[in-house]
Amino acid sequence: MKSRLIVDRNFIVGEADKNIFGGFLEHLGRCIYNGIYEPEHEQADENGFRKDVIELVRELDMPLTRYPGGNFVSGYDWKDGIGPVEERPLRADYAWKSLEPNLVGIDEFMKWCRLAGTEPIYAVNICTNTPKAAQELVEYCNSSKNSYWSNKRRENGSEAPYNIRYWCLGNEVDGEWQIGHMTAEEYGRTAHEAAKMMRMVDPDIKLCACGSSTMNMPSFGSWDREIMQHLFFDVDYLSIHIYFSNCDKNIPAFLASAELVDYDIECAIACCDHIAAEKKSSKKIMIALDEWNVWYRGSIHVANDAEWVYGAPLIEEIYDMADVLVDGSVLLSMLDHADRLKVGCLAQTVNVIAPIMTRTGGGAWRQTIFYPFRETSKYGRGTVLRGVTESPEYKIDARVRQSAKYLRATAVWRKEAGEITVFAINRAAEEMDFESVLGNFAVEKVVSAVEIHHDSLDAVNTETEEQVRPAEIDGSRYSLAGNVLQAQLKPYSWNMFRVKVG
Ligand code: AHR
Repeated sequence: MKSRLIVDRNFIVGEADKNIFGGFLEHLGRCIYNGIYEPEHEQADENGFRKDVIELVRELDMPLTRYPGGNFVSGYDWKDGIGPVEERPLRADYAWKSLEPNLVGIDEFMKWCRLAGTEPIYAVNICTNTPKAAQELVEYCNSSKNSYWSNKRRENGSEAPYNIRYWCLGNEVDGEWQIGHMTAEEYGRTAHEAAKMMRMVDPDIKLCACGSSTMNMPSFGSWDREIMQHLFFDVDYLSIHIYFSNCDKNIPAFLASAELVDYDIECAIACCDHIAAEKKSSKKIMIALDEWNVWYRGSIHVANDAEWVYGAPLIEEIYDMADVLVDGSVLLSMLDHADRLKVGCLAQTVNVIAPIMTRTGGGAWRQTIFYPFRETSKYGRGTVLRGVTESPEYKIDARVRQSAKYLRATAVWRKEAGEITVFAINRAAEEMDFESVLGNFAVEKVVSAVEIHHDSLDAVNTETEEQVRPAEIDGSRYSLAGNVLQAQLKPYSWNMFRVKVG
């Protein structure tokens, strides 16, 4: 099978925002407790944070981390998580049918962020808590005034404000499952007041409105339009969430999950721009894909009739080679929309539907999906080139996309490094003759060629065995002819070529 990616130095999509390579930590299962935080572990530092986990998060280089939820946030009171730890309440968490010991709160999380080299994107609870509580949280975190909540932060050990820049106005409020679910009108009004009050404390914060939680919602499209009528001038981002499933064991359709992301992002852009037209404004609302991943093996509906505890396994997904191709191509979809997609949060970071797995009391390891994320995060930051892909297509019996190309490919020009990174994913069960035309570039040499491939799409990584990881591509399988890169891609493989350009 022959496929081509054609790019040209003069045709660009935009600059990839580093924040598209973010993660997500929720008080859920073993994400926080027995995930990042395990004070009895031999790798724990003086704060109780696992150093081996921090190292792996650093390896992913996630500039943003969404926190503290997710569904959890809609029943959470941030004030439970500050002050002397022994005085903090043990609460019931009705979202995940667990207990919340409040051993980790905002002050601990900010310490972890510094250690992990990430910046928070904090979701406030405006479903069952008030806009005033959100305002007080901004005061606690960002104010340098001599006022009650900023003084509380000082009392709790942080003289300097945290200056949290990014804030989400709630989480999946359109969903009936959300504690304190609202109609679009109710949410639009409440979020508008919250935004106004939060900005009274800190006018420089960036705000994200809570868009449709999935494309399957009957209100998909209309929810976003209605809330943005209230929030257009308040917010900088509109969020979308998307999880991919292969429940019906349809590999070709599953591998084309990125085409769903294209659709979702483009719908969100259309909706924002429609409101811009109504308001006669040139403002461009950016899109935040602040939850995304493969998620179908771990139960979505938690029926925990046992005694409620904290730090017990919930929705822990074991990722395989097929998921590498899906997550890898979703990252390319994100790059392909670099002009409007400015935030991305892989959901989640540790143990819960995550690239990093740990054993309580044991090791920490890289799941298969760790690798396409790490490589794209490292080599996908730069100017995204507008690509034309020529490839045979296959049919998909789905409403929002009827076909997909076997090749999913994107090229990023990393000007400072003097390199172009060509990402090429072969979604076919056969080898692919791939070429990439790098128009108007003085191409010098291939600096590195790396693939992720396994003969079985079911191959997984465990604590003791790593079956799926990047490997150098043999030099006999790629070459340069002028400014055309040619390569032989293995069936079902993720590939990355770094090409030196003048
Ligand atoms: O990431 C797991 C859950 O998925 C989050 O809590 C929720 O926002 C989404 O439905």
